[in-house]
Amino acid sequence: MNKMTVRDIEVAGKRVLVRVDFNVPVDAATGEIVDDNRIRAALPTIKYLTERNARVILISHLGRPRGKVVDSLRLTPVAQRLSQILGQQVGVAVNCVGPEVEKSVETLQAGDVLLLENLRFHSDEETGSSDFAKALARLGDIFVNDAFGTSHRAHASIAGIGQYLPAVAGLLLEKEINTLGGLLEHPVHPFVSILGGAKVSDKVGMLKNIMAKVDCLLIGGSMATTFLKAMSYEVGTSLIEANWVDAAAELIKEAEMSGVRLILPIDVVITDEISSEAEGTVVSVDAIPADKKIVDIGPQTIESFSNELKKSWTVFWNGPMGVEEIPQFAVGTRALAKLLPELHGKTIVGGGSTAEVIDAMGLAGGVSFVSTGGGASLKFLGGEELPGVVALRDKGTL
Ligand code: 3PG
Ligand code: MG
Repeated sequence: MNKMTVRDIEVAGKRVLVRVDFNVPVDAATGEIVDDNRIRAALPTIKYLTERNARVILISHLGRPRGKVVDSLRLTPVAQRLSQILGQQVGVAVNCVGPEVEKSVETLQAGDVLLLENLRFHSDEETGSSDFAKALARLGDIFVNDAFGTSHRAHASIAGIGQYLPAVAGLLLEKEINTLGGLLEHPVHPFVSILGGAKVSDKVGMLKNIMAKVDCLLIGGSMATTFLKAMSYEVGTSLIEANWVDAAAELIKEAEMSGVRLILPIDVVITDEISSEAEGTVVSVDAIPADKKIVDIGPQTIESFSNELKKSWTVFWNGPMGVEEIPQFAVGTRALAKLLPELHGKTIVGGGSTAEVIDAMGLAGGVSFVSTGGGASLKFLGGEELPGVVALRDKGTL
């Protein structure tokens, strides 16, 4: 990465304003944090700073409160979890800007950590207001972006603060960019990408950009249905993206021309309705009844995808193979996930629901890297510049 990082700047005694992505899944009924990986992923930067006597001010969003104070989206539970895993008390401020917050910041001692309240309680955050960025910048001497998962958003706290403070990358952001960038720059072949999840539209840019780098694309999940439709298969009542069928057809052609093996399911699990009581039936893709929907890949597809994975030296996975929330339709996703730790090459998993599956199955320690970014990793692999990275100082400019 050609951007400066926390390692390139003197932090001792400084007020260091760190944008983190603590947008963690929270159980709506209990308010409990379901998955704290994004909090854990920020620890290296936080510890790096506290160990060097910086005064650490963390800023984050949680959920989409759309400019209003929503009590269930307060960051207090996040501060509590962070205190536990950091082994140090982390205070929470009442707001993220304003005189009261400035006062709290002034009381911080070297090595202290303070988490400010949800940035998205202010609509100015998402509109990218420069006044809001300036108000945030008043709280620090240095700005660190460690929120890789939000770096595709041109929000005030992501893209704006760097206009007012020296802005450098945190250690997580650096690791994400170097790891995902490595996939584009020097993948060890064969490079196999498994893609699933709901939408083709989310992944077209990424598919086009990685077409020249991959050897094989394995396509499952709901997005495979749009590809099957493009191949003129009957897909019954499955959800498809009608406007993206042509794009899918083009991608199939592009793959052929680039010598990439784009492999679609040969059999699928179908059902009447997506519900936890529903039962699935395996059929070949050329025998999908008009009144059924696809909910998972079938056993022959699992076998064919597994064989490709076993031959690979680099794997990138984003998106489940079926309806992973319902155990009987999560068979394909789970079978392939279980295989990842056994592979000999590098295994990289995109964020969002794929990361959650890997974590829930206790496999995170068995893969090379789990990204904390869902949308951000797709945009980055799609060759797009991330506003949160563009805003940082280039190496050698401080
Ligand atoms: C995410 O989880 O995708 C990031 O935290 C960004 O959140 P957003 O999608 O609500 O902008
Ligand atoms: Mg998102």
